[in-house]
Amino acid sequence: MLEHAGFPRLAEASRPLPVTHGEIADFARDPYACMQALRREHGEIAALQEGEQRVYFVFGPEYNRQILTDTQRFHSRFFAIRGPKNSSQRRLTCGLLSMNGEQHKQHRRLVQEPFQKRAIVGYHDSVLGVSEELTRSWVPGTTVDINEEMTRYMLRLTSLIVFGLDCRDLAIRIGELTETWVALNHKVGTTALVSDPSMAEDYERLLEVAVELETAVKEMIAMRRSGRVGFDVLSLLLRAHDVDTTVTDDQLVGHIVLMFGAAHLTSAHSLTWTLFLLSQHPEIMQELHAELETKLQVAPPRPEHLDELTVLDRVLKESMRILPASSFLHRMTAEPVELGPFSLPAGAVVIFSQLMTHHMPELFPEPDRFLPKRWQSIAPSPYAYLPFGGGARMCIGAALGTMQLKISLTRILQQFKLSIPDQAAVNARVMSTMLFPLGRIPMRVERQDGQFSASEVRGNIHRFVTLPDQAARTSKKAA
Ligand code: HEM
Repeated sequence: MLEHAGFPRLAEASRPLPVTHGEIADFARDPYACMQALRREHGEIAALQEGEQRVYFVFGPEYNRQILTDTQRFHSRFFAIRGPKNSSQRRLTCGLLSMNGEQHKQHRRLVQEPFQKRAIVGYHDSVLGVSEELTRSWVPGTTVDINEEMTRYMLRLTSLIVFGLDCRDLAIRIGELTETWVALNHKVGTTALVSDPSMAEDYERLLEVAVELETAVKEMIAMRRSGRVGFDVLSLLLRAHDVDTTVTDDQLVGHIVLMFGAAHLTSAHSLTWTLFLLSQHPEIMQELHAELETKLQVAPPRPEHLDELTVLDRVLKESMRILPASSFLHRMTAEPVELGPFSLPAGAVVIFSQLMTHHMPELFPEPDRFLPKRWQSIAPSPYAYLPFGGGARMCIGAALGTMQLKISLTRILQQFKLSIPDQAAVNARVMSTMLFPLGRIPMRVERQDGQFSASEVRGNIHRFVTLPDQAARTSKKAA
């Protein structure tokens, strides 16, 4: 979410600068089109200016590296709406993404326990259990909205991984409240930028939901403290926290809510996009099916299998390259900074984008094509390929998220063949930093039989991906 208030006044420019004059709201309306136009016109660095306000944009690995590694000058200000002092909203937005400098370093160290390799193995059976619930609910021969299904599925899975299987009802209630709270943060953040009259009402609702959410999370913490300790992110955090009490209870609530918010939709969208891309590339689906059959047959994967599924690994990497769930990020300058031809004052907003970087032809030839095989021969730098961000605040849940995605895809595709009805519309939209599947994405669910063919889809997805020609769409399993 963008920090909207207080765009800085301009420093005097002594030479022509790569600046486009327009409406800053253009960016909120269609971030991808706006960034593409700026890059086409100006190259690797540009600014969008409206009156005295400027937002800065950088494109490509070198600037990504500079912004992500210079944490002293480029601060994270993730939440647009911090709420009044001493409010639940203020406390809920005090998680890692609102911390900088030493405080961020210290807290990141203190909350890393649930994301270590040995902890991640411990969540394996929970992920399998929730994925079995999903596949049991699907009836062969029916059509589901895969966007809705993956969003609900990840809501359940994230609730249980973060808050615990044994307090299921409260965990799911917290999950639902967090979902509403995250959506309201996005909505109020965006409407503030385009001055929508409904903003005041949404803001009041946001503050109310924040109170409910904080109360529910505190109830869960109290239950865990009174002895009901499980194997989940919160329990592991509390165990570490009870040894080292540097993190206050309010900060703990902020961290845990941020973790949930950061995990839910990013994972759901990554699953939806991967299943969509596979449904449009029968020959790649065929290869993945063969791998799952050879290495696992119909058995659920064990932790040690995940590293052996190399086709799955390439499919996921390529899906997160071409349709990255986190599509752009932003930072705010903490002090005056020289950036390319610009002298930025303190408080300037700088935007950099995974979606733009991942579609640069000089980094990824034929960037709009879904070509998982490319990963057999490339090893891009961490600032050229960054679906989980990079530098000191690279996603703390990257390994956990990857494990969840791999198990979920494996269990779905071992049991079901998914296809999109011919001429269905598939739309995507970049909204407040994420690449959302927009609206319904229908998928026909059938028992897995290893026979794959693709359909032709409509919609704006063609802006992001070049889908294969009709001629190359059908692949029958060798008899
Ligand atoms: C496919 C899934 C995921 C994607 C694409 C993703 C993406 C990202 C990205 C791009 C960032 C960097 C934000 C920035 O630099 O401003 C980030 C940070 C973060 N993510 Fe994830 N994430 C995913 C899953 C998860 C999971 C499963 C968790 C935890 C349960 C998680 C927790 C966090 C946290 C706490 C941060 C802030 C780290 C910090 O500021 O030090 N994420 N994530």
